[in-house]
Amino acid sequence: MKTHKIAVLSGDGIGPEVVFETVKILKVIEKVFDYNFAFEDALIGAIAIDETGNPLPDNTLQLCKDADAVLFGSIGDPKYDNDPNAKVRPEQGLLKLRKELGLFANIRPIKAYNSLLSRSPLKKSRIEGTDMVIFRELINGIYFGEKFTAEDFSYAYDTCSYSRADIEQIAHLAFQEATKRRKKVTLVDKANVLDTSRLWRKVTTEISKEYPDVELDFLFVDNAAMQLILNPKQFDVILTENMFGDIISDEGSVIGGSIGLLPSASIGLENALFEPIHGSYPQAKGKGIANPMASILSAAMMLRYLGLEEGAKAIEDAVENAINNLIVTSDLDETSDYSTSVVANYVIKILLNEHDHDSY
Ligand code: IPM
Ligand code: MN
Repeated sequence: MKTHKIAVLSGDGIGPEVVFETVKILKVIEKVFDYNFAFEDALIGAIAIDETGNPLPDNTLQLCKDADAVLFGSIGDPKYDNDPNAKVRPEQGLLKLRKELGLFANIRPIKAYNSLLSRSPLKKSRIEGTDMVIFRELINGIYFGEKFTAEDFSYAYDTCSYSRADIEQIAHLAFQEATKRRKKVTLVDKANVLDTSRLWRKVTTEISKEYPDVELDFLFVDNAAMQLILNPKQFDVILTENMFGDIISDEGSVIGGSIGLLPSASIGLENALFEPIHGSYPQAKGKGIANPMASILSAAMMLRYLGLEEGAKAIEDAVENAINNLIVTSDLDETSDYSTSVVANYVIKILLNEHDHDSY
């Protein structure tokens, strides 16, 4: 079996804790399914700034380029958030990494687990059966356009631009995914105001002709924000630009009961990175209370990308078992005192029970 090189970038805040548990699980999966992983750690984010002055050191970037996949934790530190004068910021490390690796599609599945329906602040009847996936464009738009701040802070700007090619490549992925699902793509935009959104509509409509089985509809982002909590079941594949996707995916996380559950995959033509959608949650750092499930489920997406479907499914089933038995951290059950590692160890126990482990 081929050796898969995995770059491990645990980052800041709770990142190292959740990634530690995830790697522990991957090492079990490796034995159970006879896979070969070569893990290599590298610095990114605030910790990389502290140690090297650079949020994305060159050796980290090179390691990621050479790896078959990147497993990412989280990034960000409050000491940079409220400092308008900060010249380097942890987030720049992640943004540069996404850009350099060409990770144009950020894929964020959102589903309602039956045993957690009552944990969501939304009514059970609204969210039951929700199963959607957001395709967020990740390396263009306002995040990467020309930006400027006047020295005296009298004004600043950020610009949003998209090329036809930027839209085409992610739109194809979204339509391909929809053909395997419920055959519906919803383009979320602000085409009543923005030129870029009108280009998204035009290009996406053209591409939809190549996928006659898939229905395409359009929703303005303000309405989408409302529909997402009023009637999330209507969505199958949501396709959207960078910043809208950032915002609506956090909003969508309330459907599942906690942002601590949501994994993501960022895919390029040659590289891929897997990360929870949650941030670094600095208030919880080092307390052992962080939910490891988003990171563990991101590892499952990574295995699927690497063609290791059996391992991916085994992880997803074991996490679902933990959820069904409420072996979860306190974000999902306020009466729970299960720690990050207790939850991960339970997932390992299930994996070992459910799968032949002669070699272990
Ligand atoms: C995300 C995060 C990042 C983003 C930040 C940390 C730069 O919020 O992955 O959703 O805005 O893309
Ligand atoms: Mn975000």
